[in-house]
Amino acid sequence: MTGKKMNNPYIQLWYEMVEHYLKIYLPKSGKILDAGGGTGEFSIRVANINENLKIINCDISEGMLRRAQEKIEEMKLQERIENKICDIMDLPFENCQFDYVMCLGDAFSFCKNTEKAFSELVRVTKPSGKIHLSVNAFWGNFFEMMAKGPSEKIYFEDLMNYYQTRIIHQDHKSTGCRSFTAEELERMGMQHNLSVIKKFVAPVFGVYSKWFNDTEKLDTIKKLQYRHCEDKNLINFGNHLNFIFEK
Ligand SMILES: C[S@@+](CC[C@H](N)C(=O)[O-])C[C@H]1O[C@@H](n2cnc3c(N)ncnc32)[C@H](O)[C@@H]1O
Repeated sequence: MTGKKMNNPYIQLWYEMVEHYLKIYLPKSGKILDAGGGTGEFSIRVANINENLKIINCDISEGMLRRAQEKIEEMKLQERIENKICDIMDLPFENCQFDYVMCLGDAFSFCKNTEKAFSELVRVTKPSGKIHLSVNAFWGNFFEMMAKGPSEKIYFEDLMNYYQTRIIHQDHKSTGCRSFTAEELERMGMQHNLSVIKKFVAPVFGVYSKWFNDTEKLDTIKKLQYRHCEDKNLINFGNHLNFIFEK
């Protein structure tokens, strides 16, 4: 994610909501894998939530990991967060190593073979450990693309390609990022005998950008987001579907 995107208040709200659930579901101690962790945004948040957790931030991109290393050193967290180059579809870890495996912010969606990627995430998780997946919600993104249209370089052809392939298209090109429905994630969990212990969508509503600057409105908006992000009628219509599975 670029610096510009990271400062976007909508993205900040997304980070904040995911962190809210990490605080509830992370173990009290143990090993965490941040698969496709990029520049380490969530690894760093996890390290700051609980000092008894050791984290491996792995990513396929050397550039992302270089930036992660700089951030980790700036925050003096190098004893607790290790960076490792790897592909989610072929993780270089033994079976049953991690207490909590997270794959957030579309890293999973960029994997060409998501079945293989999911099997790998499950394989490296300890029995009773958790797998936290966050992916683009198919319908939420469809509604958003339909409303945006060509003013944001979403052409009708892009919308139809997205509808047919589930891969987000923009400006006549595929972004390579696949989206999912809650039902698909349920099915993936069932195929691996996992139970779903929590599902939520974050953010659940889009927010008019200027309301982020009004503290009172923002406070109300956040309350509404938390109140409705687990609502089963809305889960498919927000931005990022989050499932926490237990092995
Ligand atoms: C949008 S970034 C999200 C980073 C981080 N998880 C977050 O939420 O801030 C997606 C990341 O997935 C990584 N990625 C894509 N395909 C991957 C793969 N097959 N294996 C490992 N990482 C991958 C990219 O390099 C990128 O850093």
